[in-house]
Amino acid sequence: MTQHLFDLTGKKALVTGAAVGIGRGYAAALAQAGADVAIVDLDEKTGQKTSDEIKSFGRNSLFVRCDVTKKEQVDAMIEEIVEQFGQLDIGVNNAGIGILGGDLDFSPENWNKVINVNLTGMYFCAQAEARQFVKQNPVGGKIINTASMSARICNCNASYNASKGGVVELTRMLAAEWGTYNINVNCISPSYILSPMHASTPLEVRTRIRELTPLGYVQRPEDLYGPVIFLASEASNYVTGLDLLVDGGHTLNAWLTPLQRETPPRISPEQETIQLKHDLAAMELPFDENGINESLHPEIANAFKNAFGL
Ligand SMILES: NC(=O)c1ccc[n+]([C@@H]2O[C@H](COP(=O)([O-])OP(=O)(O)OC[C@H]3O[C@@H](n4cnc5c(N)ncnc54)[C@H](O)[C@@H]3O)[C@@H](O)[C@H]2O)c1
Repeated sequence: MTQHLFDLTGKKALVTGAAVGIGRGYAAALAQAGADVAIVDLDEKTGQKTSDEIKSFGRNSLFVRCDVTKKEQVDAMIEEIVEQFGQLDIGVNNAGIGILGGDLDFSPENWNKVINVNLTGMYFCAQAEARQFVKQNPVGGKIINTASMSARICNCNASYNASKGGVVELTRMLAAEWGTYNINVNCISPSYILSPMHASTPLEVRTRIRELTPLGYVQRPEDLYGPVIFLASEASNYVTGLDLLVDGGHTLNAWLTPLQRETPPRISPEQETIQLKHDLAAMELPFDENGINESLHPEIANAFKNAFGL
């Protein structure tokens, strides 16, 4: 009975930003719970590989190239997926970017880029998915958006943090509006996750995150498998408008000193980087034994080096 609650056999899902990172993790989790999963991304080469991997789990999959900021591409993407799968049950809107820079001279172009992908693109996807769900009623559907702990704490800059705060409110509003169509709309807020976005982040930052996180390790895409399966499955049928924070306790306090550990964390530093290394290999990028590639996001590496005095 409880197993059935989380079973996604026969369900048809799509995940945006799914070539690598958190999106790839969501896709792998949904497929392993039984769903067929469409991989939606800008990166055609890596996205196609990820789609092939989903097939190797015994599920149906297709890759659709789509820029989520382009409404006509989003509508065409839903059409192509429904044509192939016959229906859509789960839409995971995850594509997102960050552009570093202080807010005194952050450019309007960069502001628009971040808001367009993280907020407007997410709205276009949710809208197109909901229209499809309404056509299929009374079954309805599940929408899951990726927000961030950056909706609650001030750790990046105004464009990123405001976009993520916007995702939480977008989620709540659509949940209130679309419950009438049997559509659940929820979001997941991770903390720092070792995806390619963090491939250039120095090791010292990982150490600091471990020291300031009660559960004691840096989050991996794998830590979102349970949350995404829960929100995609019947187990969450009465849950809507939720921002599910998954942060190992990182945001529970404004820590002044490193936390003392009584026992080793469940995940070792080597295990933290399993998917990061997998993703960098899929992107055909080099990396060291810690899964670091300094040239993928040098701006992030430099910002952390300055902040940490490295
Ligand atoms: N990594 C973290 O620490 C972290 C923490 C909290 C939230 N998030 C959020 O999680 C989501 C995924 O992040 P990630 O760390 O896996 O990032 P990532 O950069 O590793 O991967 C993002 C994927 O999205 C794709 N993408 C970017 N713009 C797109 C567009 N316009 N249309 C379609 N696809 C596009 C990229 O090609 C890439 O495959 C983002 O919304 C991000 O803001 C990340």
